[in-house]
Amino acid sequence: MTPRPVIIDCDPGTDDAIALWLALASPEIDVRVVTVVGGNVGLAATLANARAVVGLTGKTVPVVGGSGRALLAPFEDAAYVHGDNGLGGLILPEGPPAAPGLAADAIRGALRAAPPRSMTLIGLGPATNLGLVFAIEPALADNVAEIVLMTGALGEGNVTPSAEFNAWNDPEALDILLTCGAPVTLATLDVTNQALCRPKHIAALRAASRGACASAAATIWDSVAPSRRSGEEGHEQHDACAVAWVVAPHLFTHAEVAARVDCSQGIGRGRTVIDRWGRKPRVPNARFLDRLDADGFFALVIERLARLP
Ligand code: BDR
Ligand code: CA
Repeated sequence: MTPRPVIIDCDPGTDDAIALWLALASPEIDVRVVTVVGGNVGLAATLANARAVVGLTGKTVPVVGGSGRALLAPFEDAAYVHGDNGLGGLILPEGPPAAPGLAADAIRGALRAAPPRSMTLIGLGPATNLGLVFAIEPALADNVAEIVLMTGALGEGNVTPSAEFNAWNDPEALDILLTCGAPVTLATLDVTNQALCRPKHIAALRAASRGACASAAATIWDSVAPSRRSGEEGHEQHDACAVAWVVAPHLFTHAEVAARVDCSQGIGRGRTVIDRWGRKPRVPNARFLDRLDADGFFALVIERLARLP
């Protein structure tokens, strides 16, 4: 099987780190570039974290910095979840230097060189870098196989009652992606809340490997407080769901939907408006990940992280 070429845009971020390790350990995909956006913490920290997370694997994947703010406003961070350094306080060895250039340019360059419908983009943070790509060069959507985003919610948000964190932080950029014409898949909170990391998963990861990456991942998992939404049973592995969809789609059920995002300045700002039932205005433009085989998901994550050094 030829691995699918992917570009990952991320804002590490505790769950981004797990998602990156899952991606880098998975032979089904070929991570060509990792691009970085601000979000969970400021860009300086997310870029350093992405370099360190990639560096710990020993793989030579270029890491390119991007936007430190949304299209229209500064980012609002989530250090209250991810810690001040974005990795729950874990200090990793410094990674290789960032590759030169800017994220949106690096993505545009990779897409220009790609055959039609061949490149998969995985977005794990605010959509700014990816949105800029199609704002500047909309024709590049033709070379995209799929845009897979951890963003949004059909139900309640996690920053406001309406909005999930990534969608909240740059709804305008997200709407560019939802209307760019490329196939979009949404891993919203509705599915990522099913990826609840419990103490048994942390113990299983520690038992599976004493490698640097698996040990760091277990430390990160230990650092995140259980969420109130889960009844304090665990914390959600949002971003790894987007990677898992590309690596192991059999773990999910899905539905075709019409999806847009509220770009108003009102109380609905950042809400993803998702129609599963063909209601007006019916313009199906996205795939909505619905149910997750959570046991299969954690088995995959643990087995793959245990492959890393
Ligand atoms: C999303 O927001 C961030 O805090 C996480 O990294 C994830 O991408 C979940 O709402
Ligand atoms: Ca993220």
